[in-house]
Amino acid sequence: MIELLRATVFHTPERAIESFADGGLLICDGRIAACGDYTELRATNPDIAVRDLRGGYLLPGLIDTHVHFPQLRVLGGMGRQLLDWLEFVALPEEARMSDVTYACDTARRFVRALASHGTTTALVFGSHFKAATAALFRAAQGSGLRIVSGQVVADRALRPELHRSPADAFRDCTELIHEFHGRGRLLFAVTPRFAVSASEAMLEVCQTLLNEHEGLRFQTHINENELERAEVARLFPWAQDYFAVYERFHLTRPGAVMAHNVHTSDSELERLAATGTSIAHCPCSNAMLGSGIFPLRRHIDAGVHCALGTDVGGGTGFGILKEALQAYALQRLAPDGMLLTPGHLLYLATRAGAQALQLEHETGDFTVGKSADYIYLRAPEGSPLEAVLERAESPDRILSALFTLAGSESIADVRVAGEAVRDDA
Ligand code: GUN
Ligand code: ZN
Repeated sequence: MIELLRATVFHTPERAIESFADGGLLICDGRIAACGDYTELRATNPDIAVRDLRGGYLLPGLIDTHVHFPQLRVLGGMGRQLLDWLEFVALPEEARMSDVTYACDTARRFVRALASHGTTTALVFGSHFKAATAALFRAAQGSGLRIVSGQVVADRALRPELHRSPADAFRDCTELIHEFHGRGRLLFAVTPRFAVSASEAMLEVCQTLLNEHEGLRFQTHINENELERAEVARLFPWAQDYFAVYERFHLTRPGAVMAHNVHTSDSELERLAATGTSIAHCPCSNAMLGSGIFPLRRHIDAGVHCALGTDVGGGTGFGILKEALQAYALQRLAPDGMLLTPGHLLYLATRAGAQALQLEHETGDFTVGKSADYIYLRAPEGSPLEAVLERAESPDRILSALFTLAGSESIADVRVAGEAVRDDA
């Protein structure tokens, strides 16, 4: 199956943006065969079918590197900071995932929400319950999305029904790894919630899982909030800082993604960079939970790899475009903020996520040979976005309009490996 798509094309094969106003994307058996000017691609491929999508925009599928599936229904909680919000808002809902029917329904809605916002790849916090986490993997499998996820493991500091002993957590995770890791587009991520809720024995289990199975990813939270940091310092008196807790158990590595890192030291940044550990920057959540403004410039200067996460349900929804816009806006306000360009935003929303997840060989841009994971954006008729785009003449102007105004209503098509994401989960 070979097909040539014709539309305006944007992607970031390097950090800088590459765009084709009258662009072509040649797709062969679900892979990118070429990306360039339509007329040139047409000249060398005169006989193949063309899908004329002029009037809209082709972007790589968006990548969310931090999102919680059991928190769909707590979106929009206001007025609390992290630890209170967890106790009174998020964790009561997470406890409801012990009901498998409820968890299956949530998983289906969650996967649908990712797709409808243009997210084709996500690193997802599963549930504390094995059956609910399996429900998420099955819903993901049914949809065709690329999902990296894992059962959340904790043995203290939460509600008792969310705790598992290290031995039970090890058994549950091992079973899930055998059932789902490496199946189709699914991967398993070892997922201790955060250092506050993990004993040393539990962190050791995480280390063992990573050692025993090839290709697992790792995710957790770090340095989000001052009270959380004080609690970590109290619980791990031997640790020089928060990052040192994860270091001690060799959980810091390429393919490890730690969310937030708002309150961090220069030493931690240096060690994050040296170990190839990535940070999921979640600016909507940082603002909603009053966590603070992310020191992006310090991360970049130290060479720490950063991508974007929506942090549903601490954040404000599933849109990675909106998340990028929030990153832009908060950097405008930060005393030492960076002036992010539309090209930076596109990189953060796509290829940076693929790099964080070690999926760069497969997705994140339109380099020849990668999977044809793309979204097609088109302004709804009569919308402000349509009006702005009528006057937008440069690639930067078009992209900045899309980041500012394109919500899920502007996402007309979502494909993974050239196939429409399915709603039969
Ligand atoms: N730290 C530990 N758990 C969570 C969570 O669910 N959300 C956020 N934002 N931070 C956390
Ligand atoms: Zn989170």
